[in-house]
Amino acid sequence: GSSAVVTGKKRLQWSSRMAFILAAAGSAVGLGNIWKFPYITGENGGGAFVLVYLACILLIGIPVMMAEIMIGRRAQKNPAEAMESLALEAKANRLWKSVGWMGVICGFLILSFYTVIAGWAVSYVFTAGSGAFVDITPDQAGAMFGGMLADPIRLLSWSTLVVIVTMYIVGRGVNAGLEKAVNFLMPGLLVLILIMVGYAMSTGHFIEGVEFLFAPDFSKLSTESVLVALGHAFFTLSLASGAIMTYGSYLPKNTSIVKTSMAVGIVDTAVALLAGMAIFPIVFAYGLEPGAGPGLIFVTLPIAFGQMPFGTLFGVLFFLMLSIAAITSAISLIEPAVSWLTEKRQFSRLKACVTSGLGLWILGLGTVLSFNVWENHKLFGKTFFDLMDFLTANLMMPLGGLCVAIFAAWVIKSKVAEEELGLGKGLLFKAWQFAMRYLTPIGIVIVFLNALGVISL
Ligand code: PHE
Ligand code: NA
Repeated sequence: GSSAVVTGKKRLQWSSRMAFILAAAGSAVGLGNIWKFPYITGENGGGAFVLVYLACILLIGIPVMMAEIMIGRRAQKNPAEAMESLALEAKANRLWKSVGWMGVICGFLILSFYTVIAGWAVSYVFTAGSGAFVDITPDQAGAMFGGMLADPIRLLSWSTLVVIVTMYIVGRGVNAGLEKAVNFLMPGLLVLILIMVGYAMSTGHFIEGVEFLFAPDFSKLSTESVLVALGHAFFTLSLASGAIMTYGSYLPKNTSIVKTSMAVGIVDTAVALLAGMAIFPIVFAYGLEPGAGPGLIFVTLPIAFGQMPFGTLFGVLFFLMLSIAAITSAISLIEPAVSWLTEKRQFSRLKACVTSGLGLWILGLGTVLSFNVWENHKLFGKTFFDLMDFLTANLMMPLGGLCVAIFAAWVIKSKVAEEELGLGKGLLFKAWQFAMRYLTPIGIVIVFLNALGVISL
């Protein structure tokens, strides 16, 4: 069975390799794949952006994932203490702890807006169910989405529900029921996305959509776009946020970190690309704007559901699955904070959940208001939501990834990494070490300096 068991004193552990893969995939696959990937791809001009993103996943994301799981499992602690204890073991500075801390904070900040967007998805379960998508025109779909954003009470109600459900699940511990949910969620979500891709094929604009997604036009790629692609590689794989490191700390010793990371990376990438293949043909078929921003899927998909047979049913199922996928990610975003509060501060699990839930709910108000009342309040030209997104995905995550790579390949003893990854001294290990030692740090620094305008390539 794929359930988590408690070993020793408090330390949870996944019962099997499959249980961990499911949990990690549940963390990875979420709004990042279906909501964020399509709209940032649209905003950043398509193919060239996607190519850079794929390169970031393969060369940086998956190797960093291996490093994070390795750190978590080796230390058997929450991210902050894991970094600290491994640093001490390697006779390095205990301030490495702050990298773990930054991850926990980053996860918390992400969650404050993640729950608001998840609230949109939950809200659309009911909108779909009411039959509102039937024969909807692009203008009506836009107005429907705009109407939801304009109503802070509505946004707040749904996001509050998401916060409560998440905290309830986390409060009960890494839970067998949750793993079972992920069990049917992944295949179910995949089937629905395939149905959407099928519809996209019938629009007569499938090739146009696929070309937008895969034919690179590098003239459309700005230095800022490269940073967005890099940041999204971390975001979509749940890295540099404490999530994967914490899940890794529950991983049994005999499980292959390498195979697991690859499996999660492949599933996550497949879901994102399929979502893009479903959405862009619809965008072009109905004369919509690829760069429409965060509302992209909430405007395009209702049109598709409104046209296809059984569209109301599929619409309900799709937004329901998206909501559940968002919640399995939300759980992993808060778990690092909760594990720190319980392990280090001796909070009960319940108290830890209520405290962090309240905190992120309050922070979430900023995102809720940034789509209506505070729409025109901007700092550096960004709304509160834009700022949170930029701060986490484009600054904290690449920075965190950089530090994790340096830590894993320069600070921790090579022998420890060899043992944990189980690759011996083979070519694959050398490749991982090269990625962590040189590729990732140099790549991230160059992308940063470029985006900041310090250098220009
Ligand atoms: N990976 C999740 C997604 O793509 C978001 C996430 C980020 C989850 C960071 C956990 C940690 O939706
Ligand atoms: Na993802």
